[in-house]
Amino acid sequence: MTFDPKTIRQKFPILERKMNGHPLVYFDNASTTQKPLSVINAVSDYYKNHNANVHRGVHTLSQNSTDLYEGARKTVANFINADPKEIVFTSGTTEAINLVAMTFGRRNILKEDEMIISVAEHHSNLVPWQMLSALTGMTIRVIPVTDKGEFDIEAYKNLLSEKTRLVAITHMSNTLGTINPIKEIIKLAHENNTLVLIDGAQATPHINLDMQDLNADFYCFSGHKMYGPTGIGVLYGKDEILSEMIPYKGGGDMIERVTLERSDYKNSPYKFEAGTPNIAGAIGLAEAIKFLQETSLQEIQKHENELLEHATKELQKIEGIRIIGEAKNKGPVLSFTAHNPKTSASIHPYDIGTLLDKYGIAVRTGQHCTEPLMDYFKIPGTVRISFACYNTLEEIDTFIEALKKNLALLS
Ligand SMILES: Cc1ncc(COP(=O)(O)O)c(C=O)c1O
Repeated sequence: MTFDPKTIRQKFPILERKMNGHPLVYFDNASTTQKPLSVINAVSDYYKNHNANVHRGVHTLSQNSTDLYEGARKTVANFINADPKEIVFTSGTTEAINLVAMTFGRRNILKEDEMIISVAEHHSNLVPWQMLSALTGMTIRVIPVTDKGEFDIEAYKNLLSEKTRLVAITHMSNTLGTINPIKEIIKLAHENNTLVLIDGAQATPHINLDMQDLNADFYCFSGHKMYGPTGIGVLYGKDEILSEMIPYKGGGDMIERVTLERSDYKNSPYKFEAGTPNIAGAIGLAEAIKFLQETSLQEIQKHENELLEHATKELQKIEGIRIIGEAKNKGPVLSFTAHNPKTSASIHPYDIGTLLDKYGIAVRTGQHCTEPLMDYFKIPGTVRISFACYNTLEEIDTFIEALKKNLALLS
């Protein structure tokens, strides 16, 4: 089957909507992607026909629900080439990183110890570590990015030391679009006896993943950024590491035996999933994975690269536009600032975003939860456009025309 974004669009009911009298152009995919009908139907079908709590009931409906939930875990494991017991369902990337910080981190990254992040991390891969630092006294070391927004591998090598317990790095930057050389980052860390957590929130809808090949110790991602529902995400952890970690949330479903004095926990992943999980979310995520596999991640990446190239070329032609993030290896994320070429006065991203919305074009404006990166580039924020498999070259042309009109109005 040949890849055709127009056919793919028909699977996404929301793309038929008009916004402010114009066809919706949805360029805010790095925030969250739209959902294909198959995902919407899978969630709805679960509630209509299979709803019951998991792991608890002897009754058929509960077993049915458990089979669907555990089936979803297998689908996720298969998607990233891991074992189902290495897949912990969380509410998203944020919870997955917090889980590692509060379990692994609390026991293993102590006073005198260090961990490494980069200046381009999303707040989700920064704030939990600051909280951990406040608890244990460990030190966070920060790798800069180059002017083009690329990972500074030499600075990284210099920061790795016998004190480094963990490296926590994004696979793909949500602001710069940079795809980091994580295989090399992981290899260097392992040579230093340091574990690695990868924030995969932006990478999973664009890049084929193989945990055996990557050799990451932890890999975190969110369902809603890869055509799945909100409120579901994944922490992948190597079995031998998860087995050693103690849970940070206690409650039902994560225990083997409970007395009034103490509790014995189940094995991973169950010991990390206290309480009733997001069953419908997991089923929806599995359906989103089926969508990605049927559509072909390779074809999606090829198409999105074309979109990125075209948009970059057209943006570069506009006077007063500065692209933030010009790495060689980029995903379909484009951040830019704008100024009046005559006066050099900067034009606020918020004003651009608001005017684009009048044309039905949804973009993200601001700091994108990467405030330290904005400080680093000495800018207040950017306009960010980000693409998914259903976006088209025509939509980019519509956006460029609207942007030009807006800039003329705002200059
Ligand atoms: C790189 C990156 N990490 C983490 C997150 C947090 O994801 P979530 O809000 O789904 O937990 C995001 C969300 O924008 C992100 O882009």
